[in-house]
Amino acid sequence: MNRMSQTPSAPGVPDAPGRVTQTLWAVADLHGAVKDNGEMIDSIQPRDSSDWLIVAGDVAERTELVLQILNRLRKRFACVIWVPGNHELFSRSTDRHQGRAKYEELVAGCRRIDVLTPEDPYPVFDGVTVVPLFTLYDYSFRKTGYTVEQAVQAAHDRQVVMTDQFAIAPFVDIRAWCWDRLAYSIKRLSKVDGPTVLVNHWPLIIEPVKKMAFPELSLWCGTRHTRTWAQRYGARAVVYGHLHTPGITVIDGIPHIEVSLGYPREWNRHLSGEWTWPYPVMEVRDA
Ligand SMILES: [Fe+2]
Repeated sequence: MNRMSQTPSAPGVPDAPGRVTQTLWAVADLHGAVKDNGEMIDSIQPRDSSDWLIVAGDVAERTELVLQILNRLRKRFACVIWVPGNHELFSRSTDRHQGRAKYEELVAGCRRIDVLTPEDPYPVFDGVTVVPLFTLYDYSFRKTGYTVEQAVQAAHDRQVVMTDQFAIAPFVDIRAWCWDRLAYSIKRLSKVDGPTVLVNHWPLIIEPVKKMAFPELSLWCGTRHTRTWAQRYGARAVVYGHLHTPGITVIDGIPHIEVSLGYPREWNRHLSGEWTWPYPVMEVRDA
């Protein structure tokens, strides 16, 4: 999958005058259960003790490990904002918490370690409201003329199915949950004044999804219903993950920034390039 080129139109333009005093960083898809990712997670450090960090989902699968990693990051950064990815929602039939209950367990855990979630009041960074979202997917990124059932069956037939289908779908009506989350998010977003940074694990637009090598996977990559949100809710930038193709897509003048780390074979490809983790979404300068 091709990496999209960076654009200087993102907030926190690198060549702005003055010294950077505070940064809003972002990263996603840390996949902390993968041994070789541990070193990369350790390398995520603030430049200043007042820096903030967005963690846009897929920290790990087990709640205990998710909270352990977030807690470690919280000790380094002045503020940590987390949104869930699909991997946090993975469950087995023997697990105590599944589906919606697992999300509630994670939110309660984040409260204990002072990490912000989509259930908390939105924090404001240098006059910009940072909005953690959790909007899931509803299989609406599918081929025209296909019903959901036909599209999922076609993915099964080609053996290109996301683990979500076995580790999330048996425990919750994912489409109903997605639509509940959309309604919840719109209700809160409509009360926000001024500029925003929108944060979600899944992209809010379909363009980066269309670049994936296996089009069948788009079923698990978002929902068509968030397409206009960036413009409608004053986004200076949208931060997301999930696709493991870090880069920026500009739509209607707004940068949609994918900040995924991904698996070693993926981040290794970028080590000699210009992309680094975490990504500076906004910078405050003293001049
Ligand atoms: Fe994901």
